[in-house]
Amino acid sequence: MQKVMVLGSGGREHAIAWKLAQSNEVGEVLCVPGNPGTEHEPKCRNLRVSPLDSAAVVAVAHGEGVSLVVIGPEAPLVAGVPDALRRSGIPVFGPNAAAARLEGSKAFAKEFMERHGIPTAAYGRFTSLAAGREFLQGCALPIVVKADGLASGKGVVIASTRAEAEEALARFLAWGPVLLEEFLEGEEASFIAIISDGQVLPLAGSQDHKRLLDADQGPNTGGMGAYSPAPILDAAMSERVRREVMQPMARALQKESLSYRGFLYAGVMVTSAGPKVLEFNCRLGDPETQPLLFRLRSDLYPVLYAAALAEPLPASLDWDPRTALCVVLAAPGYPEAAQIGAPILGLPKQEPADAKIFHAGTRAQDGGIVTAGGRVLGVTALGDSVASAQQVAYALADKIRWPGKQLRSDIGWRARGRG
Ligand code: AMP
Ligand code: GLY
Repeated sequence: MQKVMVLGSGGREHAIAWKLAQSNEVGEVLCVPGNPGTEHEPKCRNLRVSPLDSAAVVAVAHGEGVSLVVIGPEAPLVAGVPDALRRSGIPVFGPNAAAARLEGSKAFAKEFMERHGIPTAAYGRFTSLAAGREFLQGCALPIVVKADGLASGKGVVIASTRAEAEEALARFLAWGPVLLEEFLEGEEASFIAIISDGQVLPLAGSQDHKRLLDADQGPNTGGMGAYSPAPILDAAMSERVRREVMQPMARALQKESLSYRGFLYAGVMVTSAGPKVLEFNCRLGDPETQPLLFRLRSDLYPVLYAAALAEPLPASLDWDPRTALCVVLAAPGYPEAAQIGAPILGLPKQEPADAKIFHAGTRAQDGGIVTAGGRVLGVTALGDSVASAQQVAYALADKIRWPGKQLRSDIGWRARGRG
C-alpha cells in the first residue's frame, strides 16, 4: 500500500485527497497541511507543515516514505517545491518552477503561445505609458488591460472606453509590464488535461462562475461554483481544444526542454472562430476540481503516479455521465475582506448519497467548525440533469448557516439555459 502526500489546504485539495484515498493502492494520504474536511476523511492524516517550505516538505516526504507528492495550489509550484522534491528523488505530480511561469507570468504565457502558434487573443506588451497610450489610440474597443504576474483576476480590466483603458494602464504600470489584449467574445470554459512529457490525457470539461453575484454580476472571485460536464465543451469542441491547444502545448513544452508533469488548465473562450486561450494555470481549478473529481470513476492514483514518472498514460478516463455541480459558500465580505471566525451551524453528520461537502476555509475550534477563509465550503452534488444536481446541492447548502453567508443561487445557469 502506498502513501501519497497532497500539498494544499483548500476545497480542491480536500477533493484530491478524498479521491486518492479511494484508491485500492493507497494506504494513507498525508495532507500538508489539509483542513478540517481532510482531517475526518478515511485514510487521510493532516500534517502541520507549510506546503511552501521545500526543505520541510522534502524531509517529511522521505521520513514518511511517500511514493508520490501531488501539488494542489500554484504557490508551491511557483516557489519550486516540485524542483526540490525531484532533486531528492521523490516522484511529483506538478510542474517545476520554470514551467509554472505559464501561470505565474501572463507575458511569459503569451510569448510562449505566440512562439508555438497556440490560439489566443492578439496583444501588445507595454512598459511605458507613452507607448501604451499610442497603441490605445488606434485599437478597437472594448480592450482588455492586464497586469503581469499573479493577480487572481484583480489585474484585469475590460475597458469599454479609451479613457478607462488609459486609467487602468497607468495604474497597472506601477506594478510592472502591462498587456493590452484583444477582447474575445464568446463563452468561457475550463479545459484541464494531465500532461506528462508530451502525453496528453484530457479531463472532462467544466465551467466556473467567477463573479460574486447571480447573473454574473459583482466583483471577480476565485470562483463561486462550477459544474461538469460543460455543454459548450461538447465532444467536437473538446477534440478541438485537445488538438489545437493541449497537444501543441505538450510538444512545445518538450521542445523548450520544460519537462511538464502535472495538470495544465486552459481557460478557453469558445469564440465563433474556435477556442482561444485566455489563461493557463499549472494546476487543477478550484472549484472545478470538486465536480470533476466527483464525476471521475477511474482510480486517480495510478494515473498521477504514471504521469509523475512519464510512464504511458491510459487513452482516456472514465466519467460518470451525470452532472456534478458545486456551490461555494463564502464568508461575508468576500472577496474584498472576508470576515471569519463564525461558527458553522447545520453541517450534517452524514451527507446524502450523491452529495459531498468539501471544506476550504474552515477551522476546528471548541469542538465545532468555524469559518476561516473567504471561500468556506463547496457543496457538491450529482444529478441526472443540471436541475436535479442543483436541487440536491442547494437543499444541502441552505441547511448550512452562519451570519452573512454568501452563495450564488444560479450555479449552472448556462447549462440549464441550453435545456
Ligand atoms: P485572466 O486573469 O486573464 O483569466 O482574466 C480574468 C477574466 O477576464 C477572464 O476569466 C475573462 O472573463 C476575462 N478576460 C480576460 N481576457 C479576456 C479577453 N481577451 N477577452 C475577453 N475577456 C477576457
Ligand atoms: N476556478 C478558477 C481557477 O482555479 O483558477
